[in-house]
Amino acid sequence: MWRGGAMARLVVAARAFSASASAGAGGVAMVQGASRGIGLEFVRQLLRRSDQGRVVATCRAPAAAAELHKLREEHAPGRLTVLPLDVTDEATIEAAAASIAETHGSLDLLINSTGILSIPNVIQPETTLGKVQKPSLLLAYEVNAVGPILVIKVKFTGSLLFLFPVVLVGGHSETGRGFSLVANMSARVSSIGDNGLGGWHSYRASKTALNQLTKTVSVELGRKDNIACILLHPGTVDTDLSRPFQRNVPKDKLFTREFSVQKLLSIIDNVKKSDNGKFFAWDGQEIPW
Ligand SMILES: NC(=O)c1ccc[n+]([C@@H]2O[C@H](COP(=O)([O-])OP(=O)(O)OC[C@H]3O[C@@H](n4cnc5c(N)ncnc54)[C@H](OP(=O)(O)O)[C@@H]3O)[C@@H](O)[C@H]2O)c1
Repeated sequence: MWRGGAMARLVVAARAFSASASAGAGGVAMVQGASRGIGLEFVRQLLRRSDQGRVVATCRAPAAAAELHKLREEHAPGRLTVLPLDVTDEATIEAAAASIAETHGSLDLLINSTGILSIPNVIQPETTLGKVQKPSLLLAYEVNAVGPILVIKVKFTGSLLFLFPVVLVGGHSETGRGFSLVANMSARVSSIGDNGLGGWHSYRASKTALNQLTKTVSVELGRKDNIACILLHPGTVDTDLSRPFQRNVPKDKLFTREFSVQKLLSIIDNVKKSDNGKFFAWDGQEIPW
């Protein structure tokens, strides 16, 4: 179970930082896409489960993230750091990595929660092929697939290695798990095998791409760096993302953020190294590709 220092440590910046700059007891989790919805709820629940664990919440506009500031005030100083990060802007990804390296040294857990389905006058889920447009396909791909992968991509800048989850430092996990975890938020509709309805071309395809990219990265990181990467489907959750499309969702199939994140954290807590590269639904069932 991730309780503060329960997971092996991930070095965030240069390997040279690892011994001296690793975070103290309590562990560090990063939630990317934390301003609202499921990401915000991850931050809330992670802060609640340990009085030592630290959380780095990233979002596009920290100044406007009132809920995150409230959480920061509710908890002891230093437990929650809020940093700017827009997944479409690599400079913000690098700046966040450098800041985390300096402040925390390393990460135990990275959750990529960012995602877009609809934005008024910009992108709408397509109901027919005739509504498919190139800008929507590309925007969904950029935010939903490319963005999370850039966050975990190794970045070389001169001799400095900027990255989020790359090196296993200690293996001093209280659970004896001995590996670190990246959890990328996907969606059941990304499954090609499960696609009986069609529609939502941009969102579906971008999440399918996220699955493939995550699976590919999981092979490499699992082999070299003793890190596991998983994909998660949260169920249909009552957030801004699902709100315009909830009309036909039966009441008992529309989850609260609290319920969904409890379930997802339970999966995260119980993940085994052999689960590297797998795609889990909120109830722990594997979803076919
Ligand atoms: N809700 C569901 O029913 C459901 C179902 C299946 C999968 N999911 C997945 O679960 C994840 C979370 O969804 P949600 O329901 O919590 O959505 P949400 O409430 O709409 O929140 C989306 C989050 O993504 C952030 N974001 C959007 N574009 C970004 C960018 N360019 N850079 C950084 N952050 C960006 C938003 O930040 P801003 O506040 O700055 O816009 C917001 O924090 C998504 O990946 C979604 O696809 C959700």
